[in-house]
Amino acid sequence: MIEKFRELYGSAESVRVFRAPGRVNLIGEHTDYNLGFVMPVALDLATYVAAAPSDDGKLRIFSEHRQEMREFNSSRIGAEMPAHQWTDYPVGVAQELIREGYFVGAANLLIRSTVPEGSGLSSSAALEVSSALALLNGREMEPLLLARVCQRAERNFVGMPCGIMDQYISVFGRENTAVEIDCRSLDHRNVELPAGITFLAVNTMVKHALAGSAYRDRVRECAAAVEAIQQQFPDVASLRDVTVERFELAGYLLPDVVRRRARHVVTEDDRVERFVEASERGDLARMGKLLVESHRSLQHDYEVSCAELDFLVDTALGIEGVLGSRMTGGGFGGCTVTMLRPEAADGFRQAITAAYEREFGVTPSIYSCKPSAGAGEVKA
Ligand code: GLA
Repeated sequence: MIEKFRELYGSAESVRVFRAPGRVNLIGEHTDYNLGFVMPVALDLATYVAAAPSDDGKLRIFSEHRQEMREFNSSRIGAEMPAHQWTDYPVGVAQELIREGYFVGAANLLIRSTVPEGSGLSSSAALEVSSALALLNGREMEPLLLARVCQRAERNFVGMPCGIMDQYISVFGRENTAVEIDCRSLDHRNVELPAGITFLAVNTMVKHALAGSAYRDRVRECAAAVEAIQQQFPDVASLRDVTVERFELAGYLLPDVVRRRARHVVTEDDRVERFVEASERGDLARMGKLLVESHRSLQHDYEVSCAELDFLVDTALGIEGVLGSRMTGGGFGGCTVTMLRPEAADGFRQAITAAYEREFGVTPSIYSCKPSAGAGEVKA
């Protein structure tokens, strides 16, 4: 990367390289913006940004993937408007850093990424967090604030009303552990996964156009559910405050669609807790079952799955050594995550690839989900 940087900008003096990982969420889907629980792992797929300060008043950003160079006047970066393209991520982050009182000066940046875009493995958060570290260029920032600044960039500048999960895990990821995040307290605990299992993500290679608008609809539907439930339980501030028992009492107040959305969120929060317990007990069969229940709930109640994801899950469940499978991330394409016996991994890869090719005429990419470290500077 440093060679490439020198080629692009003529010198690699005082260049530093920062890394932020993508993620796969094991369980806890569409719960983060309802202030509930999620349990992702950071991946070894990551976005890298090489950066060096410059003295010509420009912020230059080169995307290797797009082969595009973009240039901004660094003194006016705070007033840039969204351009509805990839630069919105680093520029949005720059604006949120400025809002936090950080100076963003002239610099040259080079972006390289191994997180496949549109795959539901959180390439956006990886780009936001690595850009933030590059713009900070070694200045300290409290890790939780870093995650929040990046989430705000996505909400305020990119215009996607996302929760905190993706940015949080990109910052707080840890080798060999999954991370259970409480999206209300913004606290987390590291959950060591039992021996004898491995996770693989399978990419449908599609991202349906619906994804963005459906996400906004779900956020709104959940807010509507909260408002209705408050009639019976005035202390409910988010779906996080609705237990399964309370939902049984208050659910009838909700119109059908909103009720099913809320039922997904309420039961999914519960599944995360039960998944963590099962994981601590080493109860692999139970863990697998909870993954499948999560998928069915996303498929039928939350309605964010699609034919390709359902096919991958249903096919996976028929393959030797598979313990559980579900869609992961926002939905409408992207990836599934499958929990299986390590010795079954090769057979699984072959069988799922052949079946998906036969059904959709496309070869799915498959990634091993080795829990990896969170964001930081890459030292030579
Ligand atoms: C996207 C969002 C996250 C989360 C997931 C669904 O990845 O960015 O905040 O809501 O969808 O769990």
